[in-house]
Amino acid sequence: MKVDVILGLQWGDEGKGKIVDFLAEKYDIIARFQGGPNAGHTLIIDGKKSVLHTIPSGIFRENCLNLIGNGVVIDPIILMAEITKLEAAGIPVQQRLIIAKRANLILPSHKLLDAASEQSKGTAKIGSTLKGIGPTYMDKTGRNGLRVGNILQENFKEQYQVLKNKHLSLLKNFDFEFQIEEQEREWFDAVEQLKRFTIKESTYFINEQLKSGKKILAEGAQGSMLDIDFGTYPFVTSSNTISAAVCTGLGVPPQAIGEVIGITKAYCTRVGSGPFPTELDDEVGEELRRVGSEFGATTGRPRRCGWIDLPALKYTCMLNGVSQLIITKMDILNSFKEFGVCTDYLYNNEKTQELPFDIVTENIQPIFEYRKSWGELPADNSVPSEMQDYVDYLEKYLNTKVGWVSVGPEREQLIEF
Ligand code: GDP
Ligand code: IMO
Ligand code: MG
Repeated sequence: MKVDVILGLQWGDEGKGKIVDFLAEKYDIIARFQGGPNAGHTLIIDGKKSVLHTIPSGIFRENCLNLIGNGVVIDPIILMAEITKLEAAGIPVQQRLIIAKRANLILPSHKLLDAASEQSKGTAKIGSTLKGIGPTYMDKTGRNGLRVGNILQENFKEQYQVLKNKHLSLLKNFDFEFQIEEQEREWFDAVEQLKRFTIKESTYFINEQLKSGKKILAEGAQGSMLDIDFGTYPFVTSSNTISAAVCTGLGVPPQAIGEVIGITKAYCTRVGSGPFPTELDDEVGEELRRVGSEFGATTGRPRRCGWIDLPALKYTCMLNGVSQLIITKMDILNSFKEFGVCTDYLYNNEKTQELPFDIVTENIQPIFEYRKSWGELPADNSVPSEMQDYVDYLEKYLNTKVGWVSVGPEREQLIEF
């Protein structure tokens, strides 16, 4: 069996959570492979909304085990808060969740470093979610990090002190006031509570499961345009978000990767700073935000909105080897008479479909085509001709098949193509 992958092709919030939850029915294991509580994946099941930050979106499915893989960074406080909420709603999390021993831990002092670093950047700030993601991945690659497996070792408190002291000395370089004691108490409390969950050397586990024919779905966080190597650097997150990261984030070989399902919204959003070529800084952008309820699932910040960016999508389909596309929030275009599609960029007075090295300091102008919308959707889930034309057009431009179109936030609001 193979590991199929679902990931976002834009700047995050493409609706990955909804699609993973919908498709989870067909899988045995849902696994997160990168990112951490900077993610906010929204699921709406029978009118009830849940937002998941660290826990994979298969947790509501009886048939699924959910793995937080080694590539994820975990804040025990946030993870335990998520678990407590789910358990209160009757979800047997203990039976359905596995945590990788190799996953790195976010310490309270990582969050302080994130905040101090952002504050020191002033207007040049990344717009981080301030969950400690950057500093934790820095410690991981700097070979200083603490991992989940360490919490089971006798000298864990000493290991913690060493890393915390390093952070306290780094914090002296910033003009930043802080208190850590309360957070530390909560953090150690959460660490103790985590010990009742299955904590495993998950690489053997996942490879054995694959061998025995189990179906695995890897759930991406963030989006490909936030990838540390290929995104709009430095306005990115601190992990690789593309399909290649599934191998390192779960410990599976490249031959194990099956379908790569890329999720794109029917338009574009971005939360935080950084370039966004098709951004609409006008009343149309505001209308997209209002109709699409575009406010961050993790931070509540208003999301920046604009029309779909096809050169960027072509780029992320290429990077990920997308074998199938799912387009979400198509229903949001119902209420627009017409909508824009960026087909090319103007760069150095020339038309191009390629993203240049640096779009932070260099200017690219989007070239839009406008398409007529379809108005209200038929109640019988049939596809209006304008929507069919748009999907045909996208398939041709991106040279990739569209498998589903999502037309509402509820689990079952999807049309198969
Ligand atoms: P994720 O981070 O990729 O999982 O996406 P988020 O949960 O941050 O943001 C997607 C938002 O769009 C959530 O509020 C979803 O409930 C909502 N959503 C997902 N698909 C659709 C759709 O097809 N139509 C509408 N109207 N809302 C959707
Ligand atoms: P999901 O999984 C949208 C953005 C932040 C910021 C930048 C760096 O819900 O799609 P970080 O906290 O990682 O240091 O922030 O990345 N960002 C996201 N934007 N959706 C996300 O996750 C995001 N995770 C991080 O807003 O611009
Ligand atoms: Mg989100």
